[in-house]
Amino acid sequence: MSATQTLTHEEAQRFYDRFGTKQDSQSWYEDAAIDRLIELGQFATARHVFEFGCGTGRLAERLLRDVLPSDARYVGIDISPTMVRLAGERLQAWSDRATVQLGEGTALLRQQPSDTYDRFLTTYVLDLMSPADIRTVISEAHRVLVPGGLLCAAGITRGCCPLSKMVMTAWRILHRCSPKLVGGCRPISVADFVSPDRWQPLHDETVSSYGIASEVLVAGCRKAGELSQRVAR
Ligand SMILES: C[S@@+](CC[C@H](N)C(=O)[O-])C[C@H]1O[C@@H](n2cnc3c(N)ncnc32)[C@H](O)[C@@H]1O
Repeated sequence: MSATQTLTHEEAQRFYDRFGTKQDSQSWYEDAAIDRLIELGQFATARHVFEFGCGTGRLAERLLRDVLPSDARYVGIDISPTMVRLAGERLQAWSDRATVQLGEGTALLRQQPSDTYDRFLTTYVLDLMSPADIRTVISEAHRVLVPGGLLCAAGITRGCCPLSKMVMTAWRILHRCSPKLVGGCRPISVADFVSPDRWQPLHDETVSSYGIASEVLVAGCRKAGELSQRVAR
């Protein structure tokens, strides 16, 4: 375990290899935030989506089936071979434009080309990573997005109302006892890692579902020398 009490990459991989399809049982609290993220992330006009930590491919399936334009492309990666297999099977109907790859086992995305995607999607992944890894992922998101592309993130955050403050305090205590009790995830604010000189903040909301608070963040990618924002307005 690292000093910041987050799962190491190896621990995360082992945990999610074992967790497998049980990940989908988290939808009872994740879905409200994910619905909002889909709305705010303008996926109906996306052309090329990258997902970091795609899990079983549940969100990708929903996007490809119901939201994305019929010719939009999707690339998902995950650190867990079990998740890559599950997501690959789930997305087979879209195999001409959707691929799922095994991640590098770090926070780096060296296999991904720069200036390529117009959406960088990640849900309930950054909240299990160390602050240094979160910074690396956000920096990689900036590299692989086209100017004006959107960073779209959801994850566990601090409570915003009396019930969610109580529930999220209990969550934090569980995480301190053992991160594995809560899948490695703990309340964070991704907004704290998104610097305004590289990102245009568009939305940062807290959605509470049954007392579990999730941050929904959308930020536009600013690149030096780019005056026009192709996606973010
Ligand atoms: C809590 S699950 C969320 C899965 C999915 N995004 C969802 O919302 O259902 C976290 C996922 O992140 C993956 N993950 C953790 N660390 C990762 C890393 N360094 N690179 C890629 N995926 C990672 C895990 O294997 C797992 O599938």
